[in-house]
Amino acid sequence: MHNIKTQVTIIGGGPAGLTLSHILDHAGIENIVLERQSKEHVLSRIRAGVLEPAAAQLLRDIGLGERMDANGKSKDGTKIVWQDRPDFFIDTKKWTGQPMMAYGQTNITEDLYEARERDGAQIYTEAKGVQIHDIDTSDPSVTFTQGTEQYKISSDYIAGCDGFHGPSRQAIPTSVRKEYERVYPFGWLGIMVEKPPLEDFIYAYHKDGMAMAAQRNPMLSRYYVQVPTSDSIDDWSDQRFWDTLLHRFPEELSSKIQTGPSIEKSIAPLRSFVSEPMSFGTLFLAGDAAHIVPPTGAKGLNLAFSDVYYLSRALQHHYSEGSDHYLEKYSEMALRRVWAAENTSWWLTKLLHYFPDEDKFDQKIRENDYDLLLTSEDHQRALAYEYIGLPFED
Ligand code: APR
Ligand code: PHB
Repeated sequence: MHNIKTQVTIIGGGPAGLTLSHILDHAGIENIVLERQSKEHVLSRIRAGVLEPAAAQLLRDIGLGERMDANGKSKDGTKIVWQDRPDFFIDTKKWTGQPMMAYGQTNITEDLYEARERDGAQIYTEAKGVQIHDIDTSDPSVTFTQGTEQYKISSDYIAGCDGFHGPSRQAIPTSVRKEYERVYPFGWLGIMVEKPPLEDFIYAYHKDGMAMAAQRNPMLSRYYVQVPTSDSIDDWSDQRFWDTLLHRFPEELSSKIQTGPSIEKSIAPLRSFVSEPMSFGTLFLAGDAAHIVPPTGAKGLNLAFSDVYYLSRALQHHYSEGSDHYLEKYSEMALRRVWAAENTSWWLTKLLHYFPDEDKFDQKIRENDYDLLLTSEDHQRALAYEYIGLPFED
């Protein structure tokens, strides 16, 4: 058994864990990252690509905004098109003065890995059998194996950044943990295609189900269609995907969509989930380890960044000023932003999808929600502010 000591052990080398590691390192706080998968596996994951202004600014503030500003695309907002109704634009630029940033999570993770490697970070990839010990003491530890070697890391704190399926959340006793969940009766089938995208990010409401146009770069488009949870990708040839997508977009847009062979195809189930509290003893959860949002609104990565912002500030205050104020407030502060994003993504999901069990009343309410957006500037402004996310709290 190799016995190692550090200040913060970070479980999970996704965007949350790597960003936390980067910020702590630059603040002189020693940390070790444990990632179950290989770096190649982490970098092959395809996730949403829309950053809120605060998330984009965080990347700049920590010295990781260069590629995003060079290759990402500033967007004044997101479009909604609706069968038999006028289009609507969630105009964040107009109402909040702030644009969104289109930059893929895969690129961000690449930038993070590159920076961590350049700085000589301690990252154990393919770390298996991670177990968390003694988080209710001031001497917590984590054990794991890598290949045939066994390790024990003792640290002051453990950051659980290990996503929805990781062990960190489960380490909080069930007597303390409260979980809130909504599972939706559909998924998103997404494909990547090497064709120029539409100009905007567009959600299309259609009575048969939602469709969406997203983008990664001038030659890479990402499209989605709502599918029943029971479907698998084997049910969806490229031809069936394109037929469905084009049918759900209005003619003036579907005529502009450039189709082609998919280079990736996957189905993601939709879920809203929050686990409270986000800290227990010396363990602090961040990102998908503590909460999941449905992809409508693309809040997942943005929430991971706000958690990391709060947690890194709290740890810096602890080490540099001897104050635990922000550590004690971490869960409460992070959760305020989490619930705001849960609310927005749930509301947008309800607005834009066909629910198999809905009745005519539900449809009328949905149409009324949309008509309010079309006609009321108060609703337009409110949605724009929700869409950019709450500002980080002092
Ligand atoms: N031991 C070590 N690492 C683990 C373990 C484990 N037992 N279980 C999971 N992990 C790793 C995963 O392999 C993954 O790389 O934790 C990482 C968690 O990364 P993400 O799932 O990407 O979550 P997070 O960093 O919180 O990022 C949130 O990314 O996943 C998307 O939709 C999500 O956009 C959101 C954002
Ligand atoms: C994406 O970029 O893939 C994306 C964008 C917005 C969403 C979901 C996904 O709401």
